[in-house]
Amino acid sequence: MEVVMKPDEQSMSLMAAATIADVIRRKPRAVLGFATGSTPLGTYGELIRMHREEGLDFSQIVSFNLDEYVGLAPSHPQSYRRFMEDNFFNHINLRPENTNLPDGMADDIEAACRAYEAKIASFGGIDIQLLGIGANGHIAFNEPSSSLGSRTRVKTLSDKTRKDNSRFFANAAEVPRYAVTMGIGTIMEAREVVLIAGGASKADAVAAAVEGPITAMCPATALQLHPHALVIVDREAATGLRYSYPSERLKVTKD
Ligand code: F6R
Repeated sequence: MEVVMKPDEQSMSLMAAATIADVIRRKPRAVLGFATGSTPLGTYGELIRMHREEGLDFSQIVSFNLDEYVGLAPSHPQSYRRFMEDNFFNHINLRPENTNLPDGMADDIEAACRAYEAKIASFGGIDIQLLGIGANGHIAFNEPSSSLGSRTRVKTLSDKTRKDNSRFFANAAEVPRYAVTMGIGTIMEAREVVLIAGGASKADAVAAAVEGPITAMCPATALQLHPHALVIVDREAATGLRYSYPSERLKVTKD
């Protein structure tokens, strides 16, 4: 794991956006993995700026999101499809038909999960996957105790996650109980992963994910086994870390 400590959430977001933009520039037909939640908003904002001001081109990009609530139609204001459209997709030139989210409304959800995995594979896999982290250590909706080899499937959301996400809903009872989520095994197959975490509420989860033992009780610890995982944290999210980490990525030059 490469851990980078940034002074604040904004510089964390800029670095995540720059990392994704590098992949897009190197590979215009890249397959990108996106996350929802509050943490990536700054990253999406910067990618939108790069698109508008620097011509960052998403026209050939294909995207796959990590997760979607079960039972929310794509048009539901709290669906993750709507979140991505409102906060990102509608502001860049990513073709709607090239965006993919798990189907939380499918009659046969298991078949839809298998189809999602097959579709990712048919595009050659995900080049770079953006991740947030839950205060309980979850990545996507892989809650504690999720199999570290899991694939896309339905998961029951923990009480903690439903409470954390109730801020987006009128009340806690409206938060769906289930979500379709990429598995940890699915995420681990992305060629590169970038996990971003900001704020004091993530400090314990970040410490466990980066410096704790690998355990299904903190699903993000699986990333310790990923050959190309970048973890970008702001100062507050870094407060539980025992070691200090650089503020920039390691650059090896020959001279
Ligand atoms: C969202 C997702 C979740 C979030 C996590 C952190 O697609 O997969 O794992 O990344 O719950 O959410 P925020 O960023 O709102 O703190």
